[in-house]
Amino acid sequence: MAPSLLACDFAHLADEIAAVEREGVEFLHLDVMDGHFVKNITFGPPLVKSIAGVARTTLDTHLMIENPDRYIEAFMKAGTHVLTIHVEASSDVRRDLQAIRKLGGKAGLAFNPDCPFEKVEPYLGDIDLLLVMSVFAGFGGQSFIEGSLDHVNSAAKLRQKRQFNFAIEIDGGITPETASRARNAGADILVAGTAVFRSSDYGAAIRALRG
Ligand code: DX5
Ligand code: ZN
Repeated sequence: MAPSLLACDFAHLADEIAAVEREGVEFLHLDVMDGHFVKNITFGPPLVKSIAGVARTTLDTHLMIENPDRYIEAFMKAGTHVLTIHVEASSDVRRDLQAIRKLGGKAGLAFNPDCPFEKVEPYLGDIDLLLVMSVFAGFGGQSFIEGSLDHVNSAAKLRQKRQFNFAIEIDGGITPETASRARNAGADILVAGTAVFRSSDYGAAIRALRG
């Protein structure tokens, strides 16, 4: 489980983090948006650093920014453990993945629902995490796009065939119902913002998503 802090109450950030950590979540998912690659703007390295100061869980930072190479070092220094870039946003994907690993991070690669799987395929041997977007990057609270399950399926099949080691993460519109289908398709990590932080009982919500 990777709760996305995008949907949490930022005025009580430390409490929100502690509340999901109490439920034993594996990752905290941090959505960074630049107002350019996606319309929305969220936060940058200083906030990630503050989160790193209070969190005990692996920080999974999802960069929705154009030319992420400009910020890889800053987000790693801020305390990120897994740093994910978008294949559509990078001018040199292999270089950027290598830069993340060189700085001691786990390297993730994300792609939007309309991005052909072939675009990420060449990098599957060089990543620790494949982030399959099940909504278009940019906003929380959108509905799950069914076609993303084909992306999860293709990734899982190829991983087995080629003996790759990356984890498959799915992000967007995750509810207990879509979570179970994503798991069946081969997803290992479920990102959920709305389903966790807009519920009245985070523990129950997380257990329902885990299935
Ligand atoms: C969307 C973000 C997601 C988002 C998921 O661009 O990458 O992480 O927070 O939110 P929900 O779970 O509300 O779809
Ligand atoms: Zn995300």
